[in-house]
Amino acid sequence: MKFLKDAGHLFRFAGLFVLAFLIFLVVRGYVVPKTFGEYGHYRGATIVEIAARPVKYAGHQVCENCHTDVVAAKNLGQHAHVNCEACHGPLANHANDPASVTPALPDTAVLCARCHTASAAKPKNFSQVDPADHSGGVPCQTCHNPHNPTPGADPATGAMPPAATAGTHAAPDPKTAGGAK
Ligand code: HEC
Ligand code: HEC
Ligand code: HEC
Ligand code: HEC
Repeated sequence: MKFLKDAGHLFRFAGLFVLAFLIFLVVRGYVVPKTFGEYGHYRGATIVEIAARPVKYAGHQVCENCHTDVVAAKNLGQHAHVNCEACHGPLANHANDPASVTPALPDTAVLCARCHTASAAKPKNFSQVDPADHSGGVPCQTCHNPHNPTPGADPATGAMPPAATAGTHAAPDPKTAGGAK
C-alpha cells in the first residue's frame, strides 16, 4: 500500500463529493414534487388539477342550438367567423342554465373598438376606424347590428338596402369587392 501513502487528501476530497451528492439527493427528494416526471418533464398531477377547473366557455355550437335567429343573422354578414364568446365573453354558466343566468350585453364602445380601432399594425384590408372620430360618441349598435355589422344590411336576409345596391354604376367599393375578406 505504499503507493497510497500520499493519497489521503484524495480520499478526503472524494468523500466530500460523495457527501455533497447525498445532501443533493436528500434536498432534491424534498423539493421536487412527487408526481414530477410521471409522464414527462412536468408535474403529472397538473393534468388532474387543470381538468378539475370549471369550464368557462361553452363554445359557439352550444349557443347556436338555442339562439338560431342570431346565428342565421350572423352567418349572412361579415362577422360570420367571429364566434359568440369572442364578443360575449365566457358564458358556460348561462348556457348551462339560461333561466337563472342572464348575460350582460357587451358595451360596444369597448368591444367594437377592441378589434376595429385603426392601427398601422393591422392588415390593410381589415375594416378599421378611429372610433371617436367615426361614431362621434353615438353607440356603435345605433348604426351597426353587431351580428351583421354592414350598415343597413337586413338582419333577416343579409340583403343590402336599395340605396347601397342601386345600379348607380359607381366604382366597386375596394373594401367589399375582390373577395379580400
Ligand atoms: C339552452 C338554451 C341556451 C343556450 C345554450 C344559450 N342561451 Fe343565451 N339565452 C337563452 C334564453 C332562454 C335567453 C333569454 C333569457 C333571459 O332573457 O333571461 C337567453 C339570452 C341570451 C342573451 C341576451 C340577454 C339579454 O339581456 O337580452 C345573450 C347575449 C345570450 N343569451 C348569449 C348566449 C351565448 C353567447 C351563448 C353561448 C355561450 C348562449 N346564449 C347559450 C337560451 C340559451
Ligand atoms: C361582433 C360581436 C358579437 C358576436 C360575434 C356575437 N354577438 Fe351577440 N351581441 C353583441 C352585442 C354588442 C350585443 C348587444 C347589442 C345591443 O346592445 O343592442 C349582442 C346581443 C345579443 C343578444 C341579445 C339581443 C339580440 O340582438 O338578440 C343575443 C341573444 C346574442 N347577442 C347572442 C349571440 C350569439 C348566440 C352569438 C353567436 C352565434 C353572438 N351573439 C355573437 C355582439 C356580438
Ligand atoms: C373579435 C373581433 C371583432 C369584434 C369584437 C368586432 N368585430 Fe367587426 N369585424 C371583425 C372581422 C374579423 C370582420 C370581417 C373582416 C373585415 O371586415 O376586415 C369584421 C367586419 C366588420 C365590419 C365591416 C362590414 C362590411 O360590410 O365591410 C364592420 C362595420 C364591423 N365589423 C363593425 C363592428 C362593430 C360595430 C362591432 C361591435 C358590435 C364589431 N365589429 C366587433 C372582427 C370583430
Ligand atoms: C351614425 C352611424 C354610425 C355609428 C354610430 C357608427 N358607425 Fe361605423 N359605419 C357607419 C357607416 C354608414 C359605415 C359605412 C360607410 C363607411 O365606411 O364610412 C360604417 C363603417 C364602419 C366600419 C368599416 C370601415 C371600413 O373602412 O371598412 C367599421 C369597422 C365601423 N363602421 C365600426 C364602427 C364602430 C366600432 C362604431 C362604434 C364606436 C361605429 N362604427 C359607429 C355608420 C356608423
